[in-house]
Amino acid sequence: MRRKVIAGNWKMNKSPNDVKEFMSKFPELVKDTAHDVILCVPFIDVMTALELAKNTNIKIGVQNMHYKDSGAYTGEVSPQMLKDIGVQYVIIGHSERRQYYNETDESVNLKLKSALSHELNPIVCVGETLEQREVGITKDFVTMQVKNAFEGISKEEVNKIIIAYEPIWAIGTGKTASSNDANEVCKWIRDEIRNMYGDVADEIIIQYGGSVKSSNAKELFEMSDIDGGLVGEASLDPDEFSKIVNY
Ligand code: PGA
Repeated sequence: MRRKVIAGNWKMNKSPNDVKEFMSKFPELVKDTAHDVILCVPFIDVMTALELAKNTNIKIGVQNMHYKDSGAYTGEVSPQMLKDIGVQYVIIGHSERRQYYNETDESVNLKLKSALSHELNPIVCVGETLEQREVGITKDFVTMQVKNAFEGISKEEVNKIIIAYEPIWAIGTGKTASSNDANEVCKWIRDEIRNMYGDVADEIIIQYGGSVKSSNAKELFEMSDIDGGLVGEASLDPDEFSKIVNY
């Protein structure tokens, strides 16, 4: 049985003071869960979040990074820096980064390799637009994103990667993919990993993301190929997010 991994993606929300407020409640609410719990926070919140997550079952991640260790890249944060302070997870290739910051399959692949070489656990995002879904190319598009992201990744490294399937039309829109549609795509992704790497496909964690809430988490997370979720909006409130974690 694969474990369930539930990650919050706070996006550009919450200051360090808000983190303190969130963490004054949240750890107690999720302390008994059997599921993995991750908070992917803005860079400015990382030190506070790491400090307050000490001696809890909550792991801290970030939402992006550069692929190089250091250099003249104004405004960027390196995997080396993240590793140094104890960050464990990094979201790579979120659709908002692909859409607004020119993240490409190529940069996603470079960042994925870099994260693995620094022993950071990557959460790689893939997902189709509404237009792509309507013309019936979801499978081709998503499996191509997976293929491109995993280019040059060895069989030994594959199960360290979490894949988040996030249909773009479901992110922040309140529209959730039906559990069957979401599961179908997660299964296609797993089949693609199987084609590329064999049975390790049964170990890899594939999350669903896109308007996950406490009211739909259980139905989604109990599907055969959905191993948890990447949660945006609903991860900002400790009560709501704890209900999702404890679905
Ligand atoms: P949402 O965002 O839960 O607010 O739809 C999910 C995500 O973008 O990771």
